Amino acid sequence: MTAIVSESSEEHASVLEMIELLQIDVLEEEVLQGKPEREHDPFSKNVLRKQRHWERKLAARKSKRKEEKLRRKLNRHSEEDMAHPQLSKRIMKAVTKERLAEARFSGLKVCIDLSMSHRMSDKETSRLAAQLRRLYGSNKRASKPFHLFLTSLGEDSRLLAECVRMNAGFLNYTMERTEQSCLDIFPPENIIYLSPDAEEALERVDQDKVYVLGGLVDESVQKTLSLCRAKEAGVHAARLPIDQYMQKTANSKNFHSKILAINQVFDILMAVCDTGSWTHALDKCFPRGKGYEVAQHGHSTCES
Ligand SMILES: C[S@@+](CC[C@H](N)C(=O)[O-])C[C@H]1O[C@@H](n2cnc3c(N)ncnc32)[C@H](O)[C@@H]1O
Repeated sequence: MTAIVSESSEEHASVLEMIELLQIDVLEEEVLQGKPEREHDPFSKNVLRKQRHWERKLAARKSKRKEEKLRRKLNRHSEEDMAHPQLSKRIMKAVTKERLAEARFSGLKVCIDLSMSHRMSDKETSRLAAQLRRLYGSNKRASKPFHLFLTSLGEDSRLLAECVRMNAGFLNYTMERTEQSCLDIFPPENIIYLSPDAEEALERVDQDKVYVLGGLVDESVQKTLSLCRAKEAGVHAARLPIDQYMQKTANSKNFHSKILAINQVFDILMAVCDTGSWTHALDKCFPRGKGYEVAQHGHSTCES
């Protein structure tokens, strides 16, 4: 309502301005035609001065009206967003889709090696399917998602069936899914296989490398499985730099574990890439219940 009133009063004002300008035009015409009742010189100067004055005023009004219009438009959009959240949800969905598509060209390559999934029980398989859902959720929410690969995922496998059963829209996830091994699709010298048992600590996350996570849930699965896989394939293995940046916390069970779920490792990698800081990434994403906290004297930040 307010908008309508102010718009019509603005129109009224501009009509008045136009009339005044037209009057000036008529007076000028008369001056040029040498009408006897008007005094030429002083009047002509006055008319031109007035004309300039009105032109300036009109231009100022015009730009003010334009600004007002833009402001009303922006206000209307934010009101619409609140009144129709599904609209902004639609926009967010489109942005996410765009980002995931872009990640296929320029995102850091992160691969989940599912070649060991036959070693898991049904319960572990279900837990891995849930971790893959969380991992994909993190990637969808990221402002700079990774390029995701699920390798050695058999079309007839128990794991694929479980992923489809538990994760709505799994077959439409924007990620690469293949029966091929990661060792067949990436050059071995580009692979860094992440393993909690690796000797070397990961120092930096490098855009040119492919980071491979072992698709395993660690309940009854053997220790050092992913490290053995990396060694057999002759690829570089690295662990998260937990010892470098964290210290044990006192807890009643004296429990301390550096073995994380794949989605937790994924979140740490994502945070390191976002901030360039291991301290920040581990502080934000290392699970509280694992009996570690970031040490006060932590190393300086790492490049990502
Ligand atoms: C639950 S862990 C599996 C642990 C299993 N015993 C193994 O042999 O790797 C799942 C995967 O997450 C990654 N991961 C977990 N904790 C890690 C750590 N501290 N450093 C590096 N990678 C880790 C590894 O890729 C690992 O294969």
